Amino acid sequence: MWRGLIEAYRDRLPVSDSTPVVTLHEGNTPLVPAPVLSARTGCDVHLKVEGANPTGSFKDRGMTMAVSKAVEAGSKAIICASTGNTSASAAAYAARAGITCAVLVPQGKIALGKLGQALVHGAKLLQVNGNFDDCLALAGKLAQDYPVALVNSVNPDRLEGQKTAAFEIVEALGDAPDIHCLPVGNAGNISAYWLGYQQDAQAGNATRTPRMFGFQAAGAAPIVTGAVVHEPSTIATAIRIGNPASWTRAVDARDASGGLIAAVSDREILSAYRLLAREVGVFVELGSAASVAGLLQQAEAGAVPPGATVVCTVTGHGLKDPEWAISTAPAPSTIRNDVLAAARALDLA
Ligand code: F0G
Repeated sequence: MWRGLIEAYRDRLPVSDSTPVVTLHEGNTPLVPAPVLSARTGCDVHLKVEGANPTGSFKDRGMTMAVSKAVEAGSKAIICASTGNTSASAAAYAARAGITCAVLVPQGKIALGKLGQALVHGAKLLQVNGNFDDCLALAGKLAQDYPVALVNSVNPDRLEGQKTAAFEIVEALGDAPDIHCLPVGNAGNISAYWLGYQQDAQAGNATRTPRMFGFQAAGAAPIVTGAVVHEPSTIATAIRIGNPASWTRAVDARDASGGLIAAVSDREILSAYRLLAREVGVFVELGSAASVAGLLQQAEAGAVPPGATVVCTVTGHGLKDPEWAISTAPAPSTIRNDVLAAARALDLA
């Protein structure tokens, strides 16, 4: 029986027998083949569906570690800045641990589902008149001056938990893929995967490490342009970040793996979001679609060798943002309670 990633990978994580494990049985997410994407790119494409985690995003991998370690250290409260998913996850794990959770989010810039999650789990939520980068700076100062543990990905325990996704992929494929694509926001996740893949290669579980392909939204692409973006803008609110905390680590992952970090436009993100939902059957949030948008872009540009094994992480569930899903789909028609009316509306009669 799966009992969460700390139990599964205990020997490869900084935990001991005295660590109180706070878990919602996160991890062990599906690696789903995507034949439609394989046909389009000439590669063998798989999706690591992280929306299948307990709170609907990959953040749960890092949060089980960060909250377990915070409780072990005696913390009674945690704090984070968030574009939404971190706050949802932190709130759930804090509830599970019976400790307080404070979250700082950019006002009006987080998806409705994420706001609902943080609130329903009982977090103390503050909407800040600023962007994510402002929220992170505030959270860092609060954690410095007050007795609250910071659980953003600047906390190394977060990356330790998140690296386990790479372990799962290597186990599922029997080796590391040739290329791994993922969205980049605060740049913690690309750093965590790279850590995991390197450890798997060192341990002899994989014969190679993949090339890491990271994708930022074009209006929030500081790593691509090499300069902080003071007013990041994109429809993909999850990755609307102008000054990533793990910037250097992401650049290291890119360079050491022979990979790249490129920008995808909002149009490309939206088109991948729709393709995933309508042709692959996987409903992800906009930010998550950046990995697939990036793969399609790079395949088109000839940067992806034919036949390569490619994994795209889709980081969060589409239900996080129902407003977006509804507003961009055709409006449903309303009918009388009548068979013929239904048949006509369905073009059956
Ligand atoms: N995808 C989703 C759905 C996210 O929520 C995030 C980050 C990322 C990708 C990027 O990951 O930051 O490790 O590069 N969300 C954070 C949050 C910032 O607050 O929920 P990253």
